[in-house]
Amino acid sequence: MRQEVEAVPLSGPYVDEREEDAVAEVLRSGRLSLGPTIDRFEELFAARVGAPYAAAVSSGTAGLHLLCVTAGIGAGDEVITSPYSFAASANCFIYEGATPVFADIDARTLNMDPAAVEAAVTPRTTAIVAVDIYGYPCELDALRAIADRHGLALIQDSCEALGARYRGEPVGSHGPPAVFAFYPNKQITTGEGGMVTTHSEEEWRLLRSLRNQGRGDEGGWLEHVRLGFNYRLDDIGSAIGIAQLEKLDGILALRNEVAERYGELLRDIDGVELPCPDDEDHVRSWFVYVVTLPDNESRERVIAHFERERIGYNRYLPSIHLQPYMRERYGFREGMCPVSEDASSRTLALPFFTALARDGQERVAEALAAAL
Ligand SMILES: Cc1ncc(COP(=O)(O)O)c(C=O)c1O
Repeated sequence: MRQEVEAVPLSGPYVDEREEDAVAEVLRSGRLSLGPTIDRFEELFAARVGAPYAAAVSSGTAGLHLLCVTAGIGAGDEVITSPYSFAASANCFIYEGATPVFADIDARTLNMDPAAVEAAVTPRTTAIVAVDIYGYPCELDALRAIADRHGLALIQDSCEALGARYRGEPVGSHGPPAVFAFYPNKQITTGEGGMVTTHSEEEWRLLRSLRNQGRGDEGGWLEHVRLGFNYRLDDIGSAIGIAQLEKLDGILALRNEVAERYGELLRDIDGVELPCPDDEDHVRSWFVYVVTLPDNESRERVIAHFERERIGYNRYLPSIHLQPYMRERYGFREGMCPVSEDASSRTLALPFFTALARDGQERVAEALAAAL
């Protein structure tokens, strides 16, 4: 009988005794929520990404939703975003009654093509949600110029991009409010959690009120000055976040090494297109390692091999406009965003995480080569 081979998981968090100690300290303190730890996490995070203010929230989705609220997005508005992203980049404004308009992507970077964004603007457009997909910075300056020209809000979905740099500066520092996410497959984790960075003190105060049931700076626990949410990150998650942030330089370096090793191992396999490289303006923070295969049929062949070899994978990312609820609600169909749809049919996420060792990566490369 064939010996079971060890699984290579798709992803995994990078935590150790430091996070355990940090959590224990909060538990012993008795301040499990709205204590000093969340404030400290916000200060350290803001300093790290070079933004004046940061507000911690319960998820990346919650952060995006709150920015849609602070931007005043509402019923009847159209908001432009990327079809090649995680569903939350569009859901965040649908919650507020706005209609999604998807601008197709650039085939090389997989980020929104500014020309497609410009072409999608109508008199009803009120905002753009720009995504740094797979940690590769979007064309922020071009998108900002479009937003300024048409008087639109610009929200940066940087949920996958902590540590990335655009035009020499960290993502989050450029001016538009940005959202980061800390689900366990991200560069750093808090379990569930997220962070909004902003350059406006007024917006920051509003975000902290909105996440905390609309409570004001003054007034008591039972006074609600606006319609708010419970989108708080607790102090336990915040403590994990602080411990993770301390390690961020090391985490980013290790992830760069894993990505470089994949580059070497996969370079010569016919039919495997690697993620687009950095350039002077765009420095990726490695979130996932997504390759592009010749077509859907070869992707399914690779997946069959991976399953036999117990190698993790995912069909990252389906185009949002073709999700069942989007088709049903808005009548979206194939052909609306051909570049995104083509990418969705043949991109594949390989196992990728901070502690992924060379032997696991070699097995992935062997399985890919054998399948193709
Ligand atoms: C691009 C993008 N936007 C938004 C989110 C939502 O973040 P969360 O899962 O923390 O709500 C994610 C996370 O998976 C994401 O990858």
